[in-house]
Amino acid sequence: MNNFVYNIPVKVYFGENQLQHLGEELAKYGKRVLLTYGGGSIKRTGLYDAVVEEIKKAGMELFELSGIEPNPRIDSVRRGAQMCKDHNIDVLLAVGGGSTIDATKFMAAGAKVDHDPWDFFNEKWAPIKEALPIVSVLTLSATGSEMDAGGVISNPETHDKIGRVESPTLLPKVSFLDPTVTYTVSPYQTACGAADMLSHIFEVYFNMNQDLYMLDCFMEGMMKTIIKYAPIAMKEPDNYEARANLMWTSSWAINGFVDGGKRQAWSCHPMEHEVSAYYDITHGLGLAIITPRWMEYCLSENTVSKYVQYGVNVFGINPDQPAMDIARQAIEKTKEFLFGTLGLTSTFTALGINDEHIPVMARKSCAGGVLPGFVPLNQQDIETIFRNCL
Ligand code: NZQ
Ligand code: ZN
Repeated sequence: MNNFVYNIPVKVYFGENQLQHLGEELAKYGKRVLLTYGGGSIKRTGLYDAVVEEIKKAGMELFELSGIEPNPRIDSVRRGAQMCKDHNIDVLLAVGGGSTIDATKFMAAGAKVDHDPWDFFNEKWAPIKEALPIVSVLTLSATGSEMDAGGVISNPETHDKIGRVESPTLLPKVSFLDPTVTYTVSPYQTACGAADMLSHIFEVYFNMNQDLYMLDCFMEGMMKTIIKYAPIAMKEPDNYEARANLMWTSSWAINGFVDGGKRQAWSCHPMEHEVSAYYDITHGLGLAIITPRWMEYCLSENTVSKYVQYGVNVFGINPDQPAMDIARQAIEKTKEFLFGTLGLTSTFTALGINDEHIPVMARKSCAGGVLPGFVPLNQQDIETIFRNCL
């Protein structure tokens, strides 16, 4: 078991009617707030009006930046960083899903430096030493950005989507998690969010470091929660219990708690980010397609015990069978859940993705070397996994 530091200083207001505390929390950081949001869902749902009312009640000066794209782009980050500088912004308020919160994190960091915010992501790897304070109001259960220290930004000009940039200064100071706000999330986005959360857990759970039993149990509980409640939320969008369970799982799947003692590089995420970079697909959908093929590729006599644990504890597969049989059934159950129950598209081909960019996407996934995850993967391995997704 590895040593680790546990430090997740994000204040969470969970549940209905918590927005009444928004003004008091924002006001702790100053007078001038930059409200950031995406393509307008918050205006359609009425959340925008509720948020603006709280800001006004707190007597704060409001600035706005809208139009943050899904798979947020560096240009949005640049715009936001510049606005922070131009208007002496004290605090940023991100209202949206992972894309809005991620972009806002790098606006907050960009506001504190003189260089282009893309320098945080390109070969310069400019360090993030400070950032303006960020508060988030989460509207979609998926990425965990509301409670983690990182984010993922795309640069369409270079076909890059980079997610390795983290800093404790990017942790939201406060996050508001109201499950009723997610009632309007479509069944498709609910499914993609479920696939994303599951992948965050798989990236840590599939690990040959077996001695943190407590964390394995915790992760199996979260997987069962997603498998139980995502289909309910898709059928009954206003089921509070389902939305609440998914929302809290979103945060805990990736807030640093589970990977503390199980440090290991992730596998499916670096691969999916390359696919999103070239084809701008929804992150959770890309993960759903890649994950079972990655599981199949990594299965061996050496790794089979982890699949057995997963199959037996999460899907209730009969343990009195040969290990390889259990492992294959576990992978089939995963596919059934992602492609059957959640109804997600199961191949790249169905999304119009062919083999054209597979070599370059594979090379970039492992930075031309080896992706040192559950099973170390080189470019050739990743190319094979991508081809198995076609
Ligand atoms: O833009 P608006 O109009 O708000 O609509 C969004 C968007 O079209 C809509 N939506 C969000 N909340 C809604 C809603 N529609 C109706 N009602 C609501 N309450 O949903 C669409 C998708 O939103 P987006 O923010 O893009 O989704 P998600 O939360 O899945 O974020 C995806 C991004 O996060 C990154 C992904 O790579 C991707 O760029 N990730 C961030 C991570 C992190 N910070 O740690 C980790 C993840 O692994 C992931 O890579
Ligand atoms: Zn993810």
